[in-house]
Amino acid sequence: MSALLEVERISRRYGGLNALKDVSFSVREGEIVGLIGPNGAGKTTCFNVVSGAVPPSSGAIKFKGRNIVGRKTSQIVHDGLVRTFQATTVFPASSVIENVLRGAFATTPVSMFGSIINTGASRATLAVTRKRCEQLLERLALSQFRDRKASELSYGGQRRLGVAIALAANPKLLLLDEPVAGLNPEEAADFGRLIRELHESEKLSVLLVEHHMRLVMGLCNRIVVLDHGEKIAEGKPTEISVNPKVVQAYLGTEVVA
Ligand SMILES: Nc1ncnc2c1ncn2[C@@H]1O[C@H](COP(=O)(O)OP(=O)(O)OP(=O)(O)O)[C@@H](O)[C@H]1O
Ligand SMILES: [Mg+2]
Repeated sequence: MSALLEVERISRRYGGLNALKDVSFSVREGEIVGLIGPNGAGKTTCFNVVSGAVPPSSGAIKFKGRNIVGRKTSQIVHDGLVRTFQATTVFPASSVIENVLRGAFATTPVSMFGSIINTGASRATLAVTRKRCEQLLERLALSQFRDRKASELSYGGQRRLGVAIALAANPKLLLLDEPVAGLNPEEAADFGRLIRELHESEKLSVLLVEHHMRLVMGLCNRIVVLDHGEKIAEGKPTEISVNPKVVQAYLGTEVVA
């Protein structure tokens, strides 16, 4: 397995705070990697830096072997690196299907919409995209809500819609920031099954930030642990769950089996 994402010694300072300090890790093609750590450890900051929303103070990030530091977020999405957000970020006033279409056209400049609508060839492209978006709704159990406003979905539905929007952009690597936060245990387990299915059928690689340890331990091939902006451990779930540093900094007495 070759490295899809290589994060090399990235740091991010906010004033006097090292939100990330010299953090290195990689995600290989076809892997599901967990990124865990206590509140404020730097996980979301890591996503912000990797997805191009925030520049690193120092360090390098390569995606498919190419440096992506300084690239626009839309270019990074176009390259195949797509994130979801910790907070729900659907377009609440738009319909469910419109939300997913927006995801599909996330990297299309607005100036091109005219030609998409007006030329025959583009109409064909639009039809293919629409079909793909409908299939995504089906896959994420959202078809029955396709014409409802996104704001009318349940919390779990909104989380699934967030993933549908991200998937519509055709990611090679999907960054998920606490996708099951606020879901009940059954919904969380369903979500885990969905990620595994997508991982297998779409050859999707995943970087998963989660506090839900059962999900992380069950899904991930490898886990990277942050604490106070620094990487304190990396390894297989079985290694991480008994690593004394990780247990002390984060897992505590939580049951992780
Ligand atoms: N824009 C910002 N300005 C100043 N400080 C920030 C900013 N973003 C993050 N931080 C700080 O950086 C540290 C890491 O925050 P981050 O959101 O990355 O943590 P996290 O691991 O995602 O935590 P959680 O599990 O609570 O989501 C925190 O101390 C946070 O207050
Ligand atoms: Mg966070």
